[in-house]
Amino acid sequence: MSIAIIGAGNVGMALGRAFTRRGENVVLGVPDPQKYAAAVAALGDKARLSSTADAIAASDLVVLAVPHLATAAIAQSVPDWQGKVLVDATNPLAPGLAGLTMGTNTSAAEELARLARGARVVKAFNSTGAENMADAAYPGGVPMMPVCGDDADARQRVMALATLIGFEAVDMGPLMAARYLEPFAMTWIHLAFRQGLGRRFAFGLLRRG
Ligand SMILES: NC(=O)c1ccc[n+]([C@@H]2O[C@H](COP(=O)([O-])OP(=O)(O)OC[C@H]3O[C@@H](n4cnc5c(N)ncnc54)[C@H](OP(=O)(O)O)[C@@H]3O)[C@@H](O)[C@H]2O)c1
Repeated sequence: MSIAIIGAGNVGMALGRAFTRRGENVVLGVPDPQKYAAAVAALGDKARLSSTADAIAASDLVVLAVPHLATAAIAQSVPDWQGKVLVDATNPLAPGLAGLTMGTNTSAAEELARLARGARVVKAFNSTGAENMADAAYPGGVPMMPVCGDDADARQRVMALATLIGFEAVDMGPLMAARYLEPFAMTWIHLAFRQGLGRRFAFGLLRRG
C-alpha cells in the first residue's frame, strides 16, 4: 500500500523523494495536482499525484505536510478515519516564523487528534529541516527523529519509516509530547534563521555507556 503525503511542497517532496528511493510507493495529494505534475514525475514511477481525498482514501498511513492552518479542514474532510495512521509533520508557526501560535498546555498534534475522528495521530517529521528529510546522511553521526503518539503500533510504524530514511527514531511516548516537539522545531528554526546557522545541520542523540 502507498504512503499518502498530503502537500507537495518542501516537506512533502523531501519525504516523497526519501521514501521512493527506499522502494516505497507514495501518493501525493494536493488541491491542484497539475501544479506539481513535473516535480512528482521527477520522483519516478513509485510516486503519483492525486487529489487530497483520493490520496487519503488510497492509504492507511497519511502524512500531513501542509501549512498548519490547512490541517483542520483536512482532518474534518474525512468523517471517520477508521484507524488510519495520521502523521502530523506540521508546526503551528506564527507569521514570519515569529514563534508558535499555541503550546505549553496543548499542541497542534493534539488539536488535530481531536478533529480527525478515528485517526491514530502521530507527531513526526516536524522537528528538522526538509533537506534533512530528503537526505539524512551526515558525516558526524545519525540525525534523530523524535516521534510521539498515543497508539504504540502507529508510533512504531512511523518510527520504522524514520529509520528507513536514515534517522535515529526516538520514541517520545504519548501524543502530549508534541507540546515539546513543536517548540523543538522552533529551536531548529531559531538556530537556522535567527542565529545564522543556515539549514545544513541536524540534532542527534548522544549516549554514554
Ligand atoms: N520546510 C521545512 O523545512 C519544514 C520542516 C519541518 C516541518 N515543516 C512543516 O511542514 C508543513 C509544510 O511545510 P512546507 O515547507 O513543505 O510548506 P510548503 O512548501 O508551503 O508546501 C505546502 C504544501 O501543502 C499544500 N497544501 C496547502 N493547502 C492544502 C490543502 N488544504 N490540502 C492539501 N494540500 C495543501 C500546498 O499546495 P499548494 O502549493 O497548491 O498551495 C503545498 O504543496 C508546515 O506545517 C511546516 O511548518 C516544514
